[in-house]
Amino acid sequence: MVDVRQVDLDVVVIGGANTDYLIRGAVLPKPGSTVDGQEFQEGPGGKGANQAVGAARLGARVAFLGKVGTDARGKALLERLGAEGVEASAALREADAPTGVALVMVDAEGEKQIMTAPGANHRLSADEVARASELIARARVVLLQLELPLPAVEAAARLGRAAGATVVLDPAPARELPEELLRDVHVIRPNAAEAEVLTGVRVDDAASAKRAGENLLRRGAGAAIVGAPGGNLLLSPEAELWLPQLEVRVVDATGAGDAFAAALAVCLARGEGLLHAARFANVAAAMKTTKLGAQAGLPRREEVEQLARSSRAR
Ligand code: RIB
Repeated sequence: MVDVRQVDLDVVVIGGANTDYLIRGAVLPKPGSTVDGQEFQEGPGGKGANQAVGAARLGARVAFLGKVGTDARGKALLERLGAEGVEASAALREADAPTGVALVMVDAEGEKQIMTAPGANHRLSADEVARASELIARARVVLLQLELPLPAVEAAARLGRAAGATVVLDPAPARELPEELLRDVHVIRPNAAEAEVLTGVRVDDAASAKRAGENLLRRGAGAAIVGAPGGNLLLSPEAELWLPQLEVRVVDATGAGDAFAAALAVCLARGEGLLHAARFANVAAAMKTTKLGAQAGLPRREEVEQLARSSRAR
């Protein structure tokens, strides 16, 4: 069958945008305590916006659909997307809710804790997504996360799949998902904690990651890449591959999942196979962890290729 769609975008990201306020210190505070940190960074974030920027930095043609407030922070986030080469003209502004905010804390090992106030992100409706069906139909890959209301995510996945795009879901923040949504997803990429919420399987090694992946495939996902301590397990009807985590000096794990999802989407949009895409994404995620800040630390293609070469040579 001849594809008559006008496919001029590699990736369309439908997701959340936040302003991130990040503090890095020696240790994360325990509940009920206060600790001093050392570094502060204010910058653009949100999983959707991060993944859009991540894909653009890897050389893809990218568009973003989401919702920010009519406040100055919302304006700044959309301008930042434009400056990164992301087409954001379809993004919406909400007068009755503030732009999303995330408070990010990072310790000396790079481990992070995040709490968000979703604000305008939670005002994007399924109808508003449906009105962007022409934009979605221009994509080779539709890239989704869970920072929007579930009906908006479901509408995006349905429209993406119906238009012939590859639908990739980063199921973060974690929540249970209906099988109707999983059936529209070609590749799902949960980390260990998200996989446990989705499947009830406690993921602590490659074997348990495989069990979680099998559960997701049984319930309709086309393929799963499940994060586990020490690596990622790729599972599809054709393949099973363990991708060990690369050894790097970890500064900040925030946004590593975004770097992974973005790189995966870019490779799939280029027509590369899932195994190659997952390998490249694994390197992109490791590269991200060497820098501070979710969006600020997302790598460019040359950096990912350089790390891939040096880790092969080791
Ligand atoms: O994945 C990292 C992102 O999660 C941060 O940028 C923060 O905004 C939250 O959405």
